[in-house]
Amino acid sequence: MEAARRLSAGAIVAFATETVYGLGADTFNVAAIEQIYALKGRPARNPLIAHVAGTAEARRVAAVWDERCDRLAARFWPGPLTIVVPRSADVPDRATAGWPTIAIRAPAHPVAQRLLQAFGGPISAPSANRSGHVSPTTARHVAEDFPDAADLYVLDGGSCAVGIESTVVDLSGAPARVLRPGSVPASALAEILGEVATPDLIAQAAGPGTAPRHYAPGAAAELVCTAALPGRLAELREPAVVLCLDRGSVAAPHRAIVMPSSPRAYAARLYDALREADACGRSRIVIEDVPQDNSQTEGLWSAIRDRLRRATVG
Ligand code: TXA
Ligand code: MG
Repeated sequence: MEAARRLSAGAIVAFATETVYGLGADTFNVAAIEQIYALKGRPARNPLIAHVAGTAEARRVAAVWDERCDRLAARFWPGPLTIVVPRSADVPDRATAGWPTIAIRAPAHPVAQRLLQAFGGPISAPSANRSGHVSPTTARHVAEDFPDAADLYVLDGGSCAVGIESTVVDLSGAPARVLRPGSVPASALAEILGEVATPDLIAQAAGPGTAPRHYAPGAAAELVCTAALPGRLAELREPAVVLCLDRGSVAAPHRAIVMPSSPRAYAARLYDALREADACGRSRIVIEDVPQDNSQTEGLWSAIRDRLRRATVG
C-alpha cells in the first residue's frame, strides 16, 4: 500500500478516520514527527495522538495499560475514544511533545484500519488542518489547508461520519478526566470507570492542547443563543452568514446556512459548514447556539457546543 510505504520511508501522509482526517507519521520516527509540526504550524508543546490497530499496539506505546484501559477499549475501540496514559520510554519525546503521557486511539474507519495494518505500527497523527484552523472532514478540506504541499499524499475515505474529533479521556491521574468531549459521552465512560471529571477546559486553558481558540474559521465568528438571534442580526451593519437551525430566523441581507436538527447529522456537517461560511467572504459568521442535551442526544450537543465555543472565543 502506497501510504504505508511512504510512512515507512519517513514521509507524512493524510488519511481518513471516522472523526476527522489525520496527518500521520511513524510514531518512532522523530524527523517525520517534526514534519507534522512544521507543516501544520503546530505549537511545539501540543502533543499528538498515537493511532493503533488495537490494544497490543497500545501496550507498546504505554508504560501503564491497566484493566480500566482494557475495559474502555473492549467497549469503545475501534472508535472515537482517545485514552491518555503514562508513556512508554520507547516512545520518542517528540511524539508526545515532551509530555510524560501519551494519547492513544484505535480508529474505526476501514481506510485508517487498512493503513495501520499495512504499516504495522503506531501512527502519530493530529487533525490534518493548519494549526488553529477548522478540522478537515473530506480529502478536499485537507488539500485546501495545505496548498503549498502538492506532494502531500491523502488517503481518501470520503466524508467523515462522526465529523468532530474523538473524546479524550485522561487516565493518568485520579479521577479520570474528560479533556475533550466527543461522541463518546462522559456518562458512558462513567459506566465503566465510576467517577469521571468533566472540567471546563475552555475556561481554564491549562495542560496540553487546551488553548481555548481552536477549530476557528478566518472570519470573525460569534455564538448567539436562539432567543437573542433576531435582535443580534438586526443590529449588525454588515451582511453576515448565519449557521442556524431554522431558516425563518434569518432575513436578508444576511445569508443562512441551515444546519441539521439531529446532533449526529449536525456534527457530521459542522466543519464543512464552517468552511462554507468562511468561503462566502463575509466578514462575520454568526452561529446559533445548539439545544441542550436530553436523554436521547447522549451529550453530543455539548460536544458540538465545545467546538462552537472554541471557534468563537477571542
Ligand atoms: O478524532 C481525533 O482525535 C483526530 C483523529 C485524526 O484521530 N485527531 C485529533 O488530533 O483531533 P489533534 O491533535 O487535533 O487533537 C488531539 C488532542 C489535542 O487537544 C491534544 O492536546 C490532546 O489530544 N492530547 C494529545 N496527547 C495528549 C496527552 N499526552 N495528554 C493530554 N492531551 C493530549
Ligand atoms: Mg486538531
